[in-house]
Amino acid sequence: MDVKNRILQLQEQLNQHNIHYYVHDNPTISDYEYDVLLKELEYLEKIHPELQNSFSPTQKIGGEALSSFQSINHKIPMLSLANAMNDDDLKKFDSQILRLLSSEKKIEYIGEPKLDGLAVELVYEKGVLTYGSTRGDGTTGEDITENIKTIKGIPLSISRNLIPDLFEIRGEVFINHNDFKYLNTQRSNNGESPFANPRNCAAGSLRQLDSKITASRPLRIFCYAPGTISGLSFNTQKEFLEYLPKCGLPVNKNIEVGYGFDFLNKYYISCEKLRTKLSYDIDGAVFKINSYNFQNIVGERTKSPRWAIAGKFKAQQETTQILDIVISVGRTGALTPVAKLKPINVGGVVISNATLHNQDEINKKDIRIGDTVLIQRAGDVIPEVIKVIIQKRNSKSKKFEIPSYCPVCKYSVSKKEGEAILRCNNNDCTAKIHGQIEHYVSKNSLDIDGLGNRIITLLINNKLISNFSDLYTLEVSQISILDRMGEKSAQNIINSINKSKKTSLSRFIHGLGIRNIGQNGAKILGKKFEGDINKLINTSKEELIDIKEFGEIMADSLVNYFSNEHNIENIDRCLDMGVVFSETTKTIESIITDKIFVFTGNLKQFSRKEAINLIEKFGGKNSSSISIKTNYIVAGLSAGKKLDKAKKLNLPILDENEFIKLINEIG
Ligand code: IVH
Repeated sequence: MDVKNRILQLQEQLNQHNIHYYVHDNPTISDYEYDVLLKELEYLEKIHPELQNSFSPTQKIGGEALSSFQSINHKIPMLSLANAMNDDDLKKFDSQILRLLSSEKKIEYIGEPKLDGLAVELVYEKGVLTYGSTRGDGTTGEDITENIKTIKGIPLSISRNLIPDLFEIRGEVFINHNDFKYLNTQRSNNGESPFANPRNCAAGSLRQLDSKITASRPLRIFCYAPGTISGLSFNTQKEFLEYLPKCGLPVNKNIEVGYGFDFLNKYYISCEKLRTKLSYDIDGAVFKINSYNFQNIVGERTKSPRWAIAGKFKAQQETTQILDIVISVGRTGALTPVAKLKPINVGGVVISNATLHNQDEINKKDIRIGDTVLIQRAGDVIPEVIKVIIQKRNSKSKKFEIPSYCPVCKYSVSKKEGEAILRCNNNDCTAKIHGQIEHYVSKNSLDIDGLGNRIITLLINNKLISNFSDLYTLEVSQISILDRMGEKSAQNIINSINKSKKTSLSRFIHGLGIRNIGQNGAKILGKKFEGDINKLINTSKEELIDIKEFGEIMADSLVNYFSNEHNIENIDRCLDMGVVFSETTKTIESIITDKIFVFTGNLKQFSRKEAINLIEKFGGKNSSSISIKTNYIVAGLSAGKKLDKAKKLNLPILDENEFIKLINEIG
């Protein structure tokens, strides 16, 4: 055999062994035998560089170090998952799906382990791995292509007859327990600080500017979701997951399909048992509707799909001691008691604070300063105290009572009827102001860089700001003289503030922090009022309730907020100082303005998203459920229950041709 063919043969063999090892978890040769083949290939490629190719297994060694990561926009946002904390939440999830699909039959679900690593997107163009990126904020991630290419279980190219032109795959990068332990021992031996847990280790390894370092870390991947795929379609998640290993892409083995809530419950329990046996971390079970058609019908929220949920496992629990209880005052003035704990490692994270929620909770659990308590990282967010270990209570333990005044401004506090939370009554409370400004400048609001907690505190304490509109009056000379600030950092802050003036109405509304108006509510208002905040301010409660997604509580909150003169003054000041809104999607007035459309079945000429964009462009509204408010049903191929329901309700039904005709007439 000549050298060229031997090189090709070795490449082919090694790639195949990678698939046996990483995809099927079933190596057919020893590590030593693998290394011998790899060494031979490396040698031959070295003496015949003209025969080297970029898909060779020898290429997984990393290249030149980068100075920073570029950004990559995901074609389809990488959403996160809503959490189910108990079987009641799973039941609610199932009931909602049944309702949205108007189904009397049990729904077919797919259960998958929830891998505790780092989400990434891989992009294959005509079978060649061209990009790899982190999830980032869901819309934009970091370009980690060079690092992704070093992961042994990720093929650099896919050779199959039926490979989509564009094949975007999402998955989780993680590290095995054994590999993690080995790496940490090595780090300790070298005098480097060990990683706290496998997740941090995987994340740290993946975000190296020097891909040679990533190459030295034994990272793995399991793929679990499609991004944009053109040239091939799948009917179900199961079909998709079965296709991936045929392309050499690893998929977790512990995946099952079943029907209804019984399956959700059963799989969750078996997955929790499985957790103790696996050689990598999982932190829950993910449930998805198996049919892609049904997923489309059920649709998505802003941050997470309606068609999936993560059944979270109970976080690990630990016992520790409460050293003190302090009060934190938030942006709404809520007084939250926080337990200061003797620091303790819970599942790899050192915990020193736990929320006690409110006085009722403290009384119910009889929590006292000095007590030994059982804590848990519920849903991996703010740790909570589960219970007091009464046997360990000593005579020095001290009862705690939330003060009847605000600990920050000493003003009175009060409780709304039916609420357990005390709130500070002082609008000028610095803790409230701090929280409000922190929220106004945060990522999902005005996204003003450089205004961290320390600077906000300095600005408030020096009486330079007392509300969000004051931010626009700041000058470099006022900021540069503050503690540990200088001309340059002050100028950077002013630049960020100026840059943020060009924003969207939805970001601004979100930044106002109106009670009950979250990111989704703000987006709906931003779109509806097309950048005109005065129109929103002058809208009546009745008109607000008429917005499909809004109810009485949200409408009341808005009316209440805009009836406060002080709030209006601040908004006007922002506008006077150059805050402008440029909403991206302007709608065109037409005969379908405000008409509600429901799509069902598959359209041949458009994706569901394209069809929705079209109607929205002309003022129509999309809804996922049929009611008497529905104006048009657009029924594609294999339309199901919704079509039956529409017929029963005598609603106007359009087939695809009639829909196209309608759009043509308008456009
Ligand atoms: S599906 C929109 N499947 O969980 C669907 N995600 O909380 C989201 N994750 O960012 C992805 N295992 O990092 C999916 N089998 C699985 C998963 C999984 C872990 C992670 C993923 C995602 C996060 C959402």
